[in-house]
Amino acid sequence: MKNLISISELQDKEILQMVKIARKFKKNDKSISVNKVKNKSLALIFQKPSTRTRLSFEIAMRELGGNSIFLSESDLQISRGELMKDTAKTLSEYVDIVAIRTYNNSDIQEFIDNSSIPIINALSNTNHPCQALSDIQTVIEKKKSLRNLKIVWIGDSNNVLNDFLFASLKLGANFSIVCPKKYSPNKETIKIAKEILKENKSTLSITSDPMKAVIDADVVVTDKIISMGDKNKELKKKAFLPKYRVTEKIMSKAKDDAIFMHCLPAVRGEEVSEQVIDGNNSVIWQQVENKLHMHKALIWSLSLIHI
Ligand code: CP
Ligand code: NVA
Repeated sequence: MKNLISISELQDKEILQMVKIARKFKKNDKSISVNKVKNKSLALIFQKPSTRTRLSFEIAMRELGGNSIFLSESDLQISRGELMKDTAKTLSEYVDIVAIRTYNNSDIQEFIDNSSIPIINALSNTNHPCQALSDIQTVIEKKKSLRNLKIVWIGDSNNVLNDFLFASLKLGANFSIVCPKKYSPNKETIKIAKEILKENKSTLSITSDPMKAVIDADVVVTDKIISMGDKNKELKKKAFLPKYRVTEKIMSKAKDDAIFMHCLPAVRGEEVSEQVIDGNNSVIWQQVENKLHMHKALIWSLSLIHI
């Protein structure tokens, strides 16, 4: 792995390797040498808001002995029309690794094409690979393996779903997506999922009845109905609510030890009830913690190749 735009580019072995490294960081395993990262610099270019991803990357880099520099869009000449490629070439002269949160993957690709350093997608309209990796870590910690797990995503077909879906299928899970038909995954997501399915024994179903789909689930996942940059917000909410809100009634159909996941930020009372997100089966704070360990693993692994 030289850069990270989408989980679709990773092999199952690479995903598991990242989880293994992140868990070593979590255990404070001193056998990992962090010398390569000492005094190196990470630039964080964020064109959308962030609480967890920004903070966990900054703290990860600091704890590894490096520095990070946060750059919102308005801090950069991009806001005055400077080209992505000129920004990429400039940053390559100064820093050692870049994480970008933006709208289109084409901008991240342009950055990669004009950089001599590793580039990480810290969320785009279609992908959130860092979140998927740390969420897979959480599932493995709770359930040991994804093989034959029943994972049910209830909600919008968004960036968080895409990479979590690709990772789950690559690792052998049976995945159900439950959403209003109009908000089903797009052609590109289905195409990638089908390619993954050709190579292993996972399954994928897309339906619109949450009560049915969730029966015997091991993992129930959702995300906000409205993502950053979404349009037609009221229309979208109307299509989802109240049917696709993850409630105790829905969770009661899943296995007793099913876990509830949400990458956060959440809107209690919209995509999930307060009882579920703050209940005993919820693992949201473990997800938050694992972002820190996974971001260390990402910085460390990409640094080994490039720096
Ligand atoms: N889960 C996640 O990416 O959160 P932030 O938007 O706060 O970074
Ligand atoms: N789907 C959400 C995830 C936020 C972390 C968004 O893109 O806004």
